[in-house]
Amino acid sequence: MPTVFIKTYGCQMNERDSEAVAAQLAERGYSLAASAQTADVVLLNTCSVRDLAEQKAIGKMTELAAKNRKTKGNAIFGYLGCMAQSRGAQLVQDQPDVRLVLGTQKFHRAADYLDELVQGRQRSIVDTEEEVGSQNTIKEHLTTLGGKTQITSFVSIMQGCNQYCTFCIVPYTRGQERSRPIAEIVEEVRRQVVNGAREVTLLGQIVNSYAKRELPFIDGKSPFVQLLEAVSAVEGIERVRFTSPHPKGYGDDLVEAYARLPKLCQSAHIPVQSGSNRILKLMHRGYTTERFLELVGKLRAARPDIGLTTDIIVGFPGETEEDFDQTLTLAREVRFDNAYMFKYSPRRDTPAAAMEGQLSDEVKEDRLARLLNVINTIGAERYETCVGRRMEILVEGPSKRNPLTWSGRTRCNKIVVFDGSNRHLGQLMDVDITRNGSFTLYGDPAILNGD
Ligand code: 5AD
Repeated sequence: MPTVFIKTYGCQMNERDSEAVAAQLAERGYSLAASAQTADVVLLNTCSVRDLAEQKAIGKMTELAAKNRKTKGNAIFGYLGCMAQSRGAQLVQDQPDVRLVLGTQKFHRAADYLDELVQGRQRSIVDTEEEVGSQNTIKEHLTTLGGKTQITSFVSIMQGCNQYCTFCIVPYTRGQERSRPIAEIVEEVRRQVVNGAREVTLLGQIVNSYAKRELPFIDGKSPFVQLLEAVSAVEGIERVRFTSPHPKGYGDDLVEAYARLPKLCQSAHIPVQSGSNRILKLMHRGYTTERFLELVGKLRAARPDIGLTTDIIVGFPGETEEDFDQTLTLAREVRFDNAYMFKYSPRRDTPAAAMEGQLSDEVKEDRLARLLNVINTIGAERYETCVGRRMEILVEGPSKRNPLTWSGRTRCNKIVVFDGSNRHLGQLMDVDITRNGSFTLYGDPAILNGD
């Protein structure tokens, strides 16, 4: 059977989609190749959120296809996901080595289409159609990845987005919001527990919009909070997380869930995008900085030790120095633990791309550097406050940077590196934090479970 290599660009949802495709192909008898060069099938699961992500995937495809032509010459190349959705057949025209283009509602068709291509029944296949119920198809997992149990499991609870932020391509690439039934999500989490998972992260574009049109509020609880309760009730799951919520419609029921559900980790990634109300309005975000700050206040009242991270865009069209200054002020006021920061990237067919006041790359670069400085300084201070404390971590495996050491995550979502070994894998254990590095903590095991 052929071997397959899948490279993923972009968000955790893309990672999850790739895993579901890999599981589907493994089920069909494919094995996972160690590298793109040795694979019979190479799939790039793409991201369209910024132009850079698209250019990276296109560049990678060009490079891999050229190498393949020079060597064995018969690998099958394909694009999956957001860029596949938005560029469609154009990708095959521009890069004739590409033989499969699979949109965001068609991941579950990967094995069937590859069969067609492998057996030579078709030269190329492009499928970017919409499909009712496609949100229910991202459910298979690779139970082991490279021999490692997945201690932390990611589960997709919905697809699409109806918010139409003016900068964002996602509603066009991922379609309208569609949610999975609670029972199916819970069943998937149960299966993951059987496979060794102890933590689950629920994934969606705007998770707090989960099933809001399909399911009613019950006892003042939104469908998403009902889902959190159902997932928390799964025996064997020790920790529950989710990403990302939207500040708009972030109800008190969700804030209260942090205080009420012991498995729900005190960590929240809440994209703020800008600290200027004028820009937030142009972005079509649906909240003000005052409302955002109020939400942060409520979350910190519910869980004083909550870890808070965010996304910020600099250089949105028309952003003045004053607007940007307000973003810096907001960052200083909230004191995020960390932030993902982006230069605004005009995306095709989005309203912001046609707005007046597009800024030069120099201005964006300069603002990004200044924001990075503020976020990094505050982040380091926030990490520093953990030093000397005893914190619970879930051990995930060898550290990415130095595989001789081990790493786990605190409940507030900070990575802790420590001297560990295989016997720590999947353990919830206390560590004494001894020092902090760049967005990393170092610690010594305090009490070893089972010792
Ligand atoms: N330019 C820059 N950043 C963007 N994001 C989304 N669209 C754009 C864009 N056009 C960022 C937002 C979002 C994150 C996933 O990517 O901050 O929260």
